[in-house]
Amino acid sequence: MGTILVNDQFLDRENGSVDIEDRGYQFGDGVYEVVRVYGGNMFTAKEHLERLFESAEKIHLTLPFTYDELVARLEKLMEVNQLDTGIIYLQVTRGSSARQHHFPEQTKAVLTAYTKEVARPVADMTAGVKAIITDDVRWLRCDIKSLNLLGNLLAKQEAVSKGGFEAVLHRDGTVTEGSSSNVFIISGDTLYTHPATNLILNGITRREILKLCKEIGLSVAEQAFTLEALANADEVFMASTTAEVMPLVQLDETPVGNGKPGEWTQKLQAAFEEAVQKQCGSLAQTI
Ligand SMILES: Cc1ncc(COP(=O)(O)O)c(C=O)c1O
Repeated sequence: MGTILVNDQFLDRENGSVDIEDRGYQFGDGVYEVVRVYGGNMFTAKEHLERLFESAEKIHLTLPFTYDELVARLEKLMEVNQLDTGIIYLQVTRGSSARQHHFPEQTKAVLTAYTKEVARPVADMTAGVKAIITDDVRWLRCDIKSLNLLGNLLAKQEAVSKGGFEAVLHRDGTVTEGSSSNVFIISGDTLYTHPATNLILNGITRREILKLCKEIGLSVAEQAFTLEALANADEVFMASTTAEVMPLVQLDETPVGNGKPGEWTQKLQAAFEEAVQKQCGSLAQTI
């Protein structure tokens, strides 16, 4: 949408540019967030923005703004772009300097952000989608929401080339997460998901779901599970800011259960919608 944010400046998109020696551009040296907006209000903004500060700290990047300044800028960006249902993408890079691997002493971090209309993926959430299973070849700091996403991109590309929506990643037979989502299985009355270690991104949607499980009476085990457990699960779903609670109804060429979204998954979708409505007061389309 028309206006973008560059540090504390609001510019027309055509007037934004990237320095050729920006370390984000050359090395992926930076961190980012994607925040969902429903009815013009940010959902779980605090959790996302706090995670941005945490990711930055983990890569020794000092953010050149306070939390409150960031919120104010993002609120204004949404307002000038008249965003209703969509996302805010924001990233911070370590800034520009002559190319060198170690951190330069004199750079100023660069914040950029834009908004985009993104509809809720209602049809896919209703029918469920296919995922493929592939090796998790990423580094060992997946807890950082870093701009370096090549491992994720390769997995997502493999999924899309095979007609899938997502790639479920595993390390030596232990499921970690999706290429851009967290992955959950339900067996009996228990939900399993990988614990929030260095091997996954602790998704904000994941955290919300774990809270909602309590409300709907589904037990939670933050325990890593195997590919075998995945194959035998009653229900499987993925979750992310843009995809919300997305049923996985086919894994490679095998249907999950009867090939339809499971009952617990549907209850979680309904509880998630309620949580959004409570916080944002609006939901563009319901399932
Ligand atoms: C690798 C990975 N895991 C998990 C998630 C889900 O995180 P969130 O719920 O905060 O969007 C994402 C989101 O982009 C991701 O890229």
